[in-house]
Amino acid sequence: MTTLRLGDQAPNFTAMSTAGEINFHQWLGDSWGVLFSHPADYTPVCTTELGATARMKDQFEKRNVKVIALSVDGLESHRGWINDINETQNTSVNFPIIADDTRYVALLYDMIHPRADDKMTVRSVYVIGPDKKIKLMITYPASTGRNFNEILRVIDSLQLTTYQKLATPVNWQQGEDCVILPSISNEEATELFPKGFEEVKPYLRLTPQP
Ligand code: BEZ
Repeated sequence: MTTLRLGDQAPNFTAMSTAGEINFHQWLGDSWGVLFSHPADYTPVCTTELGATARMKDQFEKRNVKVIALSVDGLESHRGWINDINETQNTSVNFPIIADDTRYVALLYDMIHPRADDKMTVRSVYVIGPDKKIKLMITYPASTGRNFNEILRVIDSLQLTTYQKLATPVNWQQGEDCVILPSISNEEATELFPKGFEEVKPYLRLTPQP
């Protein structure tokens, strides 16, 4: 296993999931993707995370993002647990969960951190672009549930900054001012951003989100 880094190709794999066998790259198609691992089935924090993710389906769809979860438990375990998630989290799980009982995908994506736990996966999140490149990696420990609103916020930033010569400042939210890339001259900025920009410092120029 080589360490994955931002900009690397997301490794492809074929795996069994609750939606049948999936070839990851084919399944992604032209969409953005979120691949996230959780430590184990029938655990409390994971139950809340998967429930919340299912309830946010329209938010992911709106952004052309396909979501897929993974844990190192088998298919029957996943199926039983999904019933519990649906019962307790006021939702219906609407994305595949990979049954990675061989740990093939978990090892491919460096989701097992032996000094945290030698068997279970940590809470990894990979955001993958339509070019199949890794755009974002986040790792949380088992004891801390993730903030999926933050994952949506980052996807908004990634999608904006992939297509515009902009970056997003601290705590940025959709609709707020953006930062013009330092590599863009003021002349170019005037052309690119017709709403204008504020030059706070030569290296800190803010423009309304296009
Ligand atoms: C959980 O998902 O609740 C959990 C899993 C492993 C360790 C601690 C919490």
